[in-house]
Amino acid sequence: MKISYQKSCLLDEQHLLTLLEQLSPEIERVSGARALHYDTPYASINLPFDEAMVERVRHAVREKKDLNPAVLVVIGIGGSNLGTKAVHEALCGLLHNEQDALKLYYADTVDTDYIAAIMRSVQAHLQAGQTVILNGISKSGSTIETVANFQCFIQLLAQYVPDYHRYVVITTDRDSVLFKQARSDFTCLEIPAQVGGRYSVFSSVGLFPLALMGVDIDALLRGARDMVKKSTEISVHNYAAVRAIILAELYRARIISIHDYFIFAVNLAGVGAWYRQLMGESIGKAFDRRGNKVEVGIVPTVSIGSIDLHSVAQLYLGGPRNMVTTFLTVQKPTEKIQLAHDQFGAALAPALEGKTFAQIMQAIVDGVRTAYQADARPYVSIELERVDAYAIGSLLQMHMIEMMYLGFLLEVNPFDQPQVELYKKETGKILSHG
Ligand code: PA5
Repeated sequence: MKISYQKSCLLDEQHLLTLLEQLSPEIERVSGARALHYDTPYASINLPFDEAMVERVRHAVREKKDLNPAVLVVIGIGGSNLGTKAVHEALCGLLHNEQDALKLYYADTVDTDYIAAIMRSVQAHLQAGQTVILNGISKSGSTIETVANFQCFIQLLAQYVPDYHRYVVITTDRDSVLFKQARSDFTCLEIPAQVGGRYSVFSSVGLFPLALMGVDIDALLRGARDMVKKSTEISVHNYAAVRAIILAELYRARIISIHDYFIFAVNLAGVGAWYRQLMGESIGKAFDRRGNKVEVGIVPTVSIGSIDLHSVAQLYLGGPRNMVTTFLTVQKPTEKIQLAHDQFGAALAPALEGKTFAQIMQAIVDGVRTAYQADARPYVSIELERVDAYAIGSLLQMHMIEMMYLGFLLEVNPFDQPQVELYKKETGKILSHG
């Protein structure tokens, strides 16, 4: 992974170094959290090093793989499914379910028509005598959407499979009601108490479904581990720290209020959705760490290149100067498409002749970055050499530590989400009165 920002982030190197100095006590605190296992708010940085947890996940995967599954349904929302989706789509592609392989569905909301369509697909597999595995994931064990979906899919499974208990894995906190209800009937995997949903992708939350789908979780965690080491050093090569400093400084100077993650790889759109939650919930706060009313937040948006150049680029390059952009690009796509010579193409766009799609995409990205720079629109570039489990593990880990540093710099707690809990509580009240 390569990150460049020097000429495009609107901060000079000296200023950045001074800010790195100011961040260094927090970098040391995060580094110190490596020794505290899960007994720290920074607990999630220890997940990629937890061999015992990985072994428990592998055991559950072996057990369920022996049942020869055709379908996996991940039932969870927010931090309980966005990480899995990000990694799986990045590595297996958005069209994975069209292949002749284990299918993966996400039941993450209570949109009737959407869930009914998934249920129909799952039912067709059950009717054909195929194995369906359900993975119910909820840290709290009480999220309404997840509980409702879990009930629906369990009932469906039970109609076709008398010993349906064997086909269900529950991932939750040891202290949740769900754990107490589930532990005697189903395979249960634990989420450490101090690991919040949006920081849980490298716990059993992400690892069980990803490993069952065949993702190389060793490489994923290796990428994450290497990034933890890099992101706990006081250095300009600590990208998590540098990115946090740039975001915090541009926000504090009132230059930006929006962060756009502009991703030039369609299969990485899920990384954008995951990051949006990570930034939205970690940084959008009503109160600072000392309890003062502050209303802090950088609005996270996601754009997909080159598609969204034909939708929002006019606004980004012509509209208000309130945004910093992260451009995420992939240097070497896994596959190759090259345009052959033909008269039709030569007449329409002679410059395209013989070009690969990778070259065309690179030219577009370079063109966009040049336009941003020429108009002093700030950005940071992240270039992945290729998309593989190691690179995705590194990328997600960098962003999680970046958010911890950004929380520190903006003086908010990046680990709670009190306002999300408010909606959950209110919905619960409405449903119990209705
Ligand atoms: O990041 C978070 O903590 C939240 O987004 C949760 O993941 C989300 O609300 C789902 O909660 P739970 O896993 O308790 O069902």
